[in-house]
Amino acid sequence: MFPTKLKCMLDDLPPGTLYIALLVTCIAMVPPAVILRARAVPSEHRRIHLIQNMDNQPKFVDQQENILFRDTRSMRPAVPGTVSRSQMIDDTHLHLGTMDGEFVTTFPSQVSVDSDLLKRGQICFEIYCLPCHGVQGYGDGPVHKRAMVLLNTGTNGTTWVQPKSLHEEAIDEYALGQVFWVISNGVRNMAGYKSQIRVEDRWAIVAWVEALQLSESAPAEDVPDADSLPVINNILPGEEDES
Ligand code: HEC
Repeated sequence: MFPTKLKCMLDDLPPGTLYIALLVTCIAMVPPAVILRARAVPSEHRRIHLIQNMDNQPKFVDQQENILFRDTRSMRPAVPGTVSRSQMIDDTHLHLGTMDGEFVTTFPSQVSVDSDLLKRGQICFEIYCLPCHGVQGYGDGPVHKRAMVLLNTGTNGTTWVQPKSLHEEAIDEYALGQVFWVISNGVRNMAGYKSQIRVEDRWAIVAWVEALQLSESAPAEDVPDADSLPVINNILPGEEDES
């Protein structure tokens, strides 16, 4: 009964309707087919990017031709006589903290060790190193504290290596040149700072690190009028005061 009814309905439609419906269906399948092909087949063209937001702007890339120049190279050769920064190391003591392949144990002659150097060193240390190493260099700066909170709550799979305490015996014994080297080039998980901090300021930081190390382990005899100064004992809860 049902097929008979359907046949009657089709017979009632204007002639050619079936062919038009078939044609429309075929045309409607073209866009999805084009999209599927575009997703599956590699192309040399850019992706279709409807909202531009200034994402693509005209520019020359390496090795591209540029008729603005007579040699049509868009990558310009260095001006004759140019010296790259990495080639300017005429004095390894000053620029690398080494001499004849050994870390130096003195400040370079260009750096005068005085209170101005220490003040500069403190400013630079507090800008560049304090966030991780802390005010006194115990490796307990605000970045470390924040990382520990994230670590303990397991946020975003945080992993963290504690910044070293600059008062560890091995680091306390570093030659000046080695501290300079660590600041310049970094070490293991610590990044180098030679592109951010000028050579003179890196030596100033070395001086401040030395001052911090000295201040934390200086014998009382080294401090003028030590007897007249108040004594602060950092006694942890549960520990006995043995003095
Ligand atoms: C972003 C955090 C961070 C900053 C900023 C940072 N450090 Fe470090 N530093 C570290 C970490 C982490 C280590 C330990 C690396 C390791 O053991 O993998 C380290 C290690 C060191 C060491 C020990 C090197 C050794 O051989 O063990 C010295 C010295 C040091 N830092 C000095 C500095 C000085 C000076 C500055 C400022 C110019 C500075 N750091 C800035 C994170 C930092």
